[in-house]
Amino acid sequence: MILLKSQSQTSVPFEQYPTFMLDVIEGLAKSQKEIPCKYFYDERGSMLFTEICQTAEYYITRTELQLLEQILPEVSARIGGNATVVEYGSGEGRKIRDLLRALQEPRAYIPVDISAEILFDSSRRLKREFPGLAIHPLVADYTAPIALPELPSDGQSGRQVVFFPGSTISNFNPAEANRFLRNIRGFLRPGDVFLLGVDLIKSPNRLHQAYNDYDGVTADFNLNLLRRINRELGANFKLHQFEHYAFFNPRYSRIEMHLLSLTDQVVTIGQHQFSFREGETIHTENSYKYSVDGVVRLGHECGFRHEQVWTDTEKLFSVHYLSAK
Ligand code: TRP
Repeated sequence: MILLKSQSQTSVPFEQYPTFMLDVIEGLAKSQKEIPCKYFYDERGSMLFTEICQTAEYYITRTELQLLEQILPEVSARIGGNATVVEYGSGEGRKIRDLLRALQEPRAYIPVDISAEILFDSSRRLKREFPGLAIHPLVADYTAPIALPELPSDGQSGRQVVFFPGSTISNFNPAEANRFLRNIRGFLRPGDVFLLGVDLIKSPNRLHQAYNDYDGVTADFNLNLLRRINRELGANFKLHQFEHYAFFNPRYSRIEMHLLSLTDQVVTIGQHQFSFREGETIHTENSYKYSVDGVVRLGHECGFRHEQVWTDTEKLFSVHYLSAK
């Protein structure tokens, strides 16, 4: 049995390790070391992410907000009244305000996020702005199938709308994206809506800049993962001995984010030791870039009709209206 010494010096059996610990030691034992990107979002990580969205180089959030502003009247007309909106990765909830305001008498809003603090904070604020709206926040890791709360149905309810903005779909690999869409399709009724924001393939240099902002906010965000592991799992990563390394990999049409070891070193997590060669990396995230056709194909494969796509004039970003077949 592998045992972990906690600070109080009592040993914790391996089977009782929290999932975070298991995922980290399993990921670091691989030949290409990796850590699942969902662990970025502790309180500080969520705040840093909000900051990324405000950097000059990260065009995604800004472009999507502008695009939504233009298309929401049309989106709202298609959706109709009394809709129930489910949002995955709701975070701070800026885009949802615009959507909820545009909809005709939305009836309920279910924000789903892995970060409880941000979720409850923004739900409270939203409740004040939309007093008539039922809000049911759900703390969940939606990379695994989740159960949504059953909502009272009085025969007047309109469509269900799953809102998945910010190109968070990019952080799934193609097989995971497929599974995710099928899972959503599974709880929708025909005619229900999947409203999806997707970042488009573009010049690698433009992409590179977006994930390597001048002020180093993205670098901070990436390195914060090591800070979190140190704090929550009692590890001894030296943050200055790792460097943020993000680049576009055209073979897979994705940005890869890594933490690169600047020296040969050994890191201890509980009773586990991991050695790093100079230049070796921990792969922390992918961000897949799509063509419009790629999204159309993905939707069809997963039981959706692709009804409409909107892009900005520079063709940086796309919003897709898919309806359940
Ligand atoms: N899903 C978005 C993207 O891949 C947002 C995002 C997630 C992100 N993690 C990130 C952006 C890390 C920058 C760095 O672009």
